[in-house]
Amino acid sequence: MDWASLKESCNNCKRCALWETRTNVVFGAGNEKAEVLFIGEGPGEQEDLSGQPFVGRAGKLLDDMLSIIDLDRTNIYIANMVKCRPPHNRDPLGIEKDECITWLREQTRLINPKIIVCLGRISAMAIIREDFKISVEHGQWTEKNGIKMTALYHPAALLRDPRRKPETFDDLKEIQRVIKEICEHTYNK
Ligand code: URA
Repeated sequence: MDWASLKESCNNCKRCALWETRTNVVFGAGNEKAEVLFIGEGPGEQEDLSGQPFVGRAGKLLDDMLSIIDLDRTNIYIANMVKCRPPHNRDPLGIEKDECITWLREQTRLINPKIIVCLGRISAMAIIREDFKISVEHGQWTEKNGIKMTALYHPAALLRDPRRKPETFDDLKEIQRVIKEICEHTYNK
C-alpha cells in the first residue's frame, strides 16, 4: 500500500466501534521520510476535532520537548497507536488496539524509521514490550527489527507531574545523541 491508499483506507476505517463516536480519524502527521517516529497513545478531544495528533496541551509540551533537541514536526513523524478518540478519553480497549495497530504497522513500513520513540507507558507496552515499566525503563534503548526504540514519559504525564521533567530532559539529550550517531538527514535538511 502507498501513502495515499493507506490514508484513504484508514480515514474510512470501521474495524472497531470507535468510528461511531469519532469526529475525525487522526492518521498521523509529519515527515513521511523521517528517520525518527514518535508514537503516542491515541487522540484526545482537540485531536479528534482537528484530525491532527498532539494539538492540545500535551501537544504544546511535546513541541517544547522537541525543540530542546532541535526537532520539530517537519523532521520527524508523529503517529498514535489508536487513530480514533475513545469516548471520554478512556484507555483504548484491547480490541481497539489490536485492530488499529495494523495501520501503525503500515505507516512504520512506509516510513522505515531508524528510531522509534514511544510516548508513554501504553505505547511502550504495545511497541517495545508488554511488561515495559516506564518509571524504570524510560530513556533505555532496545533494538527490534533493526529499529532502535526508546520511550519517554508521556507529555500529559509530565503536565500532571512536572518533577519528572529533569529525567525527561536527560532522555531527550540521549535521543539527540543517538540521532546524531545513526541518522543521516534529520539534522541536515
Ligand atoms: N495524547 C496522545 O497520546 N496522542 C495525541 O495525539 C494527543 C494526546
